[in-house]
Amino acid sequence: MLQASTIAIIKSTVPVLEVHGTAITTRFYQLLFTNHPELLNLFNHANQKQGRQQAALANAVYAAALHIDRLEAILPAVKQIAHKHRSLGITAEQYPIVGTYLLKAIKEVLGDAATDEILGAWAEAYGIIADVFISVEAQMYEAAEQQPGGWEGFKPFKVVRRQAESVAMTSFYLEPADGSRPAAFLPGQYVSVKLSIPGQPNTHIRQYSLSGAPDARGYRISVKREDGGEERPDGVVSNYMNHDVTEGAELLLSAPAGDFTIDAAAGEQPVVLLSGGAGITPMVSMLHHLHKADREATFIHATANSATHAFQAEVASLAQAGSKLKAFYSYSNPTEQDRADRRFDKEGRIDAAWLKEVIPAQPAVYFLCGSPSFLQEMYRSLQSLGVAKEQIHVEFFGPAASLE
Ligand code: HEM
Repeated sequence: MLQASTIAIIKSTVPVLEVHGTAITTRFYQLLFTNHPELLNLFNHANQKQGRQQAALANAVYAAALHIDRLEAILPAVKQIAHKHRSLGITAEQYPIVGTYLLKAIKEVLGDAATDEILGAWAEAYGIIADVFISVEAQMYEAAEQQPGGWEGFKPFKVVRRQAESVAMTSFYLEPADGSRPAAFLPGQYVSVKLSIPGQPNTHIRQYSLSGAPDARGYRISVKREDGGEERPDGVVSNYMNHDVTEGAELLLSAPAGDFTIDAAAGEQPVVLLSGGAGITPMVSMLHHLHKADREATFIHATANSATHAFQAEVASLAQAGSKLKAFYSYSNPTEQDRADRRFDKEGRIDAAWLKEVIPAQPAVYFLCGSPSFLQEMYRSLQSLGVAKEQIHVEFFGPAASLE
């Protein structure tokens, strides 16, 4: 346990570090990758370029440091990150490496303000935070391996089928290459896929939600092609998956992970699944689960138009007459044909007034998945309609960010 004086130093320096948070973590990654280039195989370079990972790591370290004398308060946040770490294969031995370069970065950015006393206190605090992550992750590694059909690290899966879901999204049906039956998963969980792309110096790892029914024989992931624009290039991995990964190809997968799951939300309240764009993927898996469990659910999805609208037939077959599932769609850019065919219920972005009309009047559990801006809008709208924070579960695509 830390001494009271060390805790006081940590708490008094958190605000200073927060001000320099992004500078410190940016420098940290430069130092880390220069000294340990092998770690470039683990990190998502697109997230790095957009600065999203820097902000996520900085937030997590400072949040943990603020709660250093009662780390149990941030255990849910630790678990969410630990799921991601476990699915990436992060090891206990990598923690001191990260700690070393984080401290070096703090020292460089703060200059003379970083006294030996301050640096010593942060070294101690990092050690304590790292130990919490290491022990939570150790339990997760054990659970993933010991589950029937579970495994350690990355295991080869064969693409047994490809299916276009929209103009920009392709589903991949995957089964273990050794013919075994893979571990069960909870609807809403994801897997990490590790790829060696010809011409690329490092391997790439990406997380994809499992979009299939939880009781299917294998897994299904659905990958949206990220087309670039003036501000960013085409997504290297999503384009490779959509164009080059054909039936019969093998992909390396780690065991299912993540705590954005229906089972994590207690009770028998109605469920609302609210997704934007590629955020539909975990929702489809959840919808299969809810259909089987005969639970009341409202499926709301926002997309551009019928061309980008994935899983139309599959969702329609689950939400057909007689089922307890209802589906609503919002198109931001419908075609004349979409209008003529009445393919959508709302034109434009989803707002609080429309949400009020389609969500249940009684308390419900909400699951949100989509881009950071979509999540922020939905979160605010739901709060303005009086939905309590505790009723809202959120899955970010990419590093988590603040919604407040
Ligand atoms: C992801 C925090 C240690 C490698 C993350 C995320 C956070 C985080 C907040 C983003 C999670 C999300 O996607 O929502 C921390 C903290 C650490 C720590 C507080 C120390 C106490 C490590 C270590 C490694 C590592 C030792 C190994 C080198 C990664 C990688 C990702 C990640 C590869 C995914 C990043 C990406 O997608 O580019 N971590 N982490 N982390 N962490 Fe850590």
